[in-house]
Amino acid sequence: SKVHNHNFVVEATPVKRLCKSHNIITVNGQYPGPTLEVNDGDSLEVNVVNKSPYNVTIHWHGIRQMRTPWADGPEFVTQCPIRPGGSYTYRFTIQGQEGTLWWHAHSSWLRASVYGALVIYPKQGSSYPFPKPKREVPILLGEWWNANPIDVIREATRTGGSPNVSDAYTINGQPGDLYNCSSNGTTVIPIDSGETSLLRVINAALNQELFFSVAQHKLTVVGADASYLKPFSTSVIMVGPGQTTDVLITADQPPARYYIAAKPYQSAQGAPFDNTTTTAILEYGSPSCSGQCALKKPVMPNLPAFNDTSTATSFSQSLRSLRKVPVPIGIDENLFFTVGLGLNKCPPNFSSSQCQGPNGTRFTASMNNVSFVLPSNFSILQAHHQGIPNVFTTDFPANPPVKFDYTGNVSRSLWQPIPGTRVYKLRYGSEVQIVLQGTNIQTAENHPIHLHGYDFYIIAEGFGNFDPKKDSSKFNLVDPPMRNTVGVPVNGWAVIRFVADNPGVWIMHCHLDVHISWGLAMAFLVENGVGELQSIEPPPSDLPLC
Ligand code: C2O
Repeated sequence: SKVHNHNFVVEATPVKRLCKSHNIITVNGQYPGPTLEVNDGDSLEVNVVNKSPYNVTIHWHGIRQMRTPWADGPEFVTQCPIRPGGSYTYRFTIQGQEGTLWWHAHSSWLRASVYGALVIYPKQGSSYPFPKPKREVPILLGEWWNANPIDVIREATRTGGSPNVSDAYTINGQPGDLYNCSSNGTTVIPIDSGETSLLRVINAALNQELFFSVAQHKLTVVGADASYLKPFSTSVIMVGPGQTTDVLITADQPPARYYIAAKPYQSAQGAPFDNTTTTAILEYGSPSCSGQCALKKPVMPNLPAFNDTSTATSFSQSLRSLRKVPVPIGIDENLFFTVGLGLNKCPPNFSSSQCQGPNGTRFTASMNNVSFVLPSNFSILQAHHQGIPNVFTTDFPANPPVKFDYTGNVSRSLWQPIPGTRVYKLRYGSEVQIVLQGTNIQTAENHPIHLHGYDFYIIAEGFGNFDPKKDSSKFNLVDPPMRNTVGVPVNGWAVIRFVADNPGVWIMHCHLDVHISWGLAMAFLVENGVGELQSIEPPPSDLPLC
């Protein structure tokens, strides 16, 4: 195994999209940022130097960080942010993971432009559970704002309303041919007749789940969130923010140019997004294609309608683990967490310009009615490790404080989230089941819930209110998919299981960034077990302090 050293210089860089240029924050001047390539068993040492005017941290999305929670990255959870002018070296080892993950900033909305692919190849000497593809291509789906995304969320936080939606979706940083003056930069992916490529599709968009398809080509799904799946073939996949999906594609069509396209599913905030499609071009390199076919318009795929829940659902229900999996069966912690938005009454000391949510309210979000608040003087992990009091409390509720019809039309007054930095304590090694129940207080939407430090099995999902009697018969304890981000269906629920074998403080949150900003998060505090191998490592000497 190898140690890979990288330098990430975070800095403002002028970038032009949609005919407009402005400074965005990049890593090493690249947008999207550099792709990291490692083998399972390797270590990474990434020295992050912050030359930007903002606080920054980097999160290695999906990396388990066994015993190295200090390298996980969410600001004020596992570290204080790297201040402008500061630096921090993230050191961690890949242990038993392979496939596609990614990295992104975990501070305010910086991840709008600070993100990149993290590709984990099998251990030296072992191979994929499918024939080795000729090419492998990371496909990063993202969002572009003509404004500075940090200003967008700051403004929304000030007004209490919804942030402005982005101006374009992007594939590898490019909006593509269907947007104004974007065709020059459109991402082109070469392919040769007959060959098979692996597309590593990553949804790095801030606030949008996306359908993804390639015109006239079948996609064979082989993995998701760096876990292998039983292969199946489909013409469209749905990827939520935070999720990755690996697909094989064979160039079995007449040589031509075909659009690779992504467009929204369940447009967040009810925005009229349906006509917004980002494209790249799959281009056959055969000699017969150069010349005339390069002049023809590429073929467009048929993408589902933005509200096509049945396509999204049947896709997620097709995922099955390839490898035999030890699904935890002796549940020690049986948790039920609601996830959803809410509206707070305008506080008396606020002016009307600070309460621009529906009917003079402010948007909020919560899990079990707790709206997560980040500390500001210490990270939760540091406070836990050093026994610093009054940074967090350990009373995050195991169940919602009020039971009601979560997906029905109920009074908003039932649900007035209470702000707090509350964590839920887990004993080392405990077997955990969480029912994630979507609520319909403000709007019903899919919530891609991401847990740091763990992969979990998604043993069931469904619509309506979770019913323990009826729904536990649907649990798949044989070959459920293992992921780090689960799309809790709109007006529905998902059940996940994992073993708490990684001590530390691990945030779980909705990966729609606007919802984290509103508090749709909580954290688990997993205690040390017995002995050094079950305990977190000491903090690195360069760990940023607040
Ligand atoms: Cu990919 Cu906490 O995030």
